[in-house]
Amino acid sequence: MVETAKARILIIDDEDGIRLSLKGILEEDEGHIVLEAETAEEGLEIIARELPDLVFLDIWLPGMDGMDALSKIKERYPQLPVIMISGHGNIEIAVAAIREGAHDFIEKPLSLEKIILAVNRTLEFVLLRRENATLRAIQGDAPVELDGNSPSIMEVKGQIERVAPTEAWVLITGDNGTGKEIAARSIYAQSNRNKELFVAVNCAAIPEELIESELFGHEKGAFTGADTARSGKFELANQGTLFLDEIGDMSLKTQAKILRILQEREFERVGGSQTIRVDVRVIAATNKNMEEEIAAGRFREDLYYRLNVFPLRLPPLKKRGQDILLLAGLFENNLVTKHGFKPLILSEGARQAMLAYEWPGNVRELRNFIERMLILHSGKELRLEHLPQEMRNGANPVLSSALPFSGKSEATCNTMCSELSSALSINDLRAARQEFESVYLRMKLSECNGNISRLAELIGIERSHLSRKLKALGV
Ligand SMILES: Nc1ncnc2c1ncn2[C@@H]1O[C@H](COP(=O)(O)OP(=O)(O)OP(=O)(O)O)[C@@H](O)[C@H]1O
Ligand SMILES: [Mg+2]
Repeated sequence: MVETAKARILIIDDEDGIRLSLKGILEEDEGHIVLEAETAEEGLEIIARELPDLVFLDIWLPGMDGMDALSKIKERYPQLPVIMISGHGNIEIAVAAIREGAHDFIEKPLSLEKIILAVNRTLEFVLLRRENATLRAIQGDAPVELDGNSPSIMEVKGQIERVAPTEAWVLITGDNGTGKEIAARSIYAQSNRNKELFVAVNCAAIPEELIESELFGHEKGAFTGADTARSGKFELANQGTLFLDEIGDMSLKTQAKILRILQEREFERVGGSQTIRVDVRVIAATNKNMEEEIAAGRFREDLYYRLNVFPLRLPPLKKRGQDILLLAGLFENNLVTKHGFKPLILSEGARQAMLAYEWPGNVRELRNFIERMLILHSGKELRLEHLPQEMRNGANPVLSSALPFSGKSEATCNTMCSELSSALSINDLRAARQEFESVYLRMKLSECNGNISRLAELIGIERSHLSRKLKALGV
């Protein structure tokens, strides 16, 4: 962690005296952790193994010199800040080093003040860069709080609160659109790692051949197209949190690799032989039924048990009762504020249909539904008949055979039937009467081929009165 005093700083210098005095300043006075190497070769090995936060690199070294080491470091770890030190400093070397990607340049003899200044400045920069990335991770479009207060969602929120500050790996399961990603961000935001990165990988979106390189990085030339070395998500997420989304879509080969990291906390880049040690908290998510995946041989049982240290199950929206209306209201407010829509007025019928509907796409479907309704009916009353067919499809076959739908198309029958059946589920008499009246009038109107005068005659009310009624009901 670079935020507090503790950073891991590697000193590559062949002079014992320099390493000793830097160690004294950085470790004893400033409280950092110091790693040491006498040669560039040794230094590169330590970097690969320990992933330090900062490197001091001498220019004149036996064997590979500092400038070559710098370009190797920058090629493999472009994010790792390097401060060059040299006893033979001249401006050209300093400029060349900075151009090559060095963060700073300090001349020997080393002054205490200059060292502390350079270290603090560099670590501050690293911290800012991480905070930036963290902000991007937790802001964006994605919220970090699950809305709702139904018992089932309160239970989930309680579990998140309890598991977040621990280091436990979490496996989030739940159907499409139930909020798995929000849950993952919420765990991260409440964890002790929230100052470090949240790195998300969608395992389903990355082609099978690329996933290993994406997760573990690769060395230059590891495969066709690997022109430069690249660090993978595990390396990027070091000390932070890695969100492995859609984990059920990972190949068995990748699963085996992940299992090894989990057990040993180390891995190699693709095409590399150097072992890299990382400290990562993994949060995984899937919408698959993992027991089924395991039974079908598509998911390793041992990996499942490892990942499933803390299982978090998100309930389907249908099981969240009044949260459906609460979330609908929140999404609506959001869109009203953002895009200036006029609010919807939900009729009792529409409310009941929303509560009764299955919501196979869960919260995402609800959000899209509200957006669509605002576009179509902004500022108006949203009645049962405005809802999409599938939401009115509480169609009841008994009802359908009992009603006089003869001579109508099957689609019309279904629509009418499901509307009536939704109206039947309304408890408020006035609201129910309105819904029945609306379905009845539309049915009769279609029997009269849209002719209002004929309809008025048929059902025995005065034409102007009927006209007003149809208008009020939005028929
Ligand atoms: N409880 C909630 N409160 C507010 N918004 C939510 C909630 N749950 C889900 N959402 C919203 O619904 C959408 C889907 O959520 P998210 O992407 O987290 O679901 P998911 O379970 O990861 O879906 P998928 O399985 O399709 O990947 C997002 O826009 C999210 O903001
Ligand atoms: Mg998701």
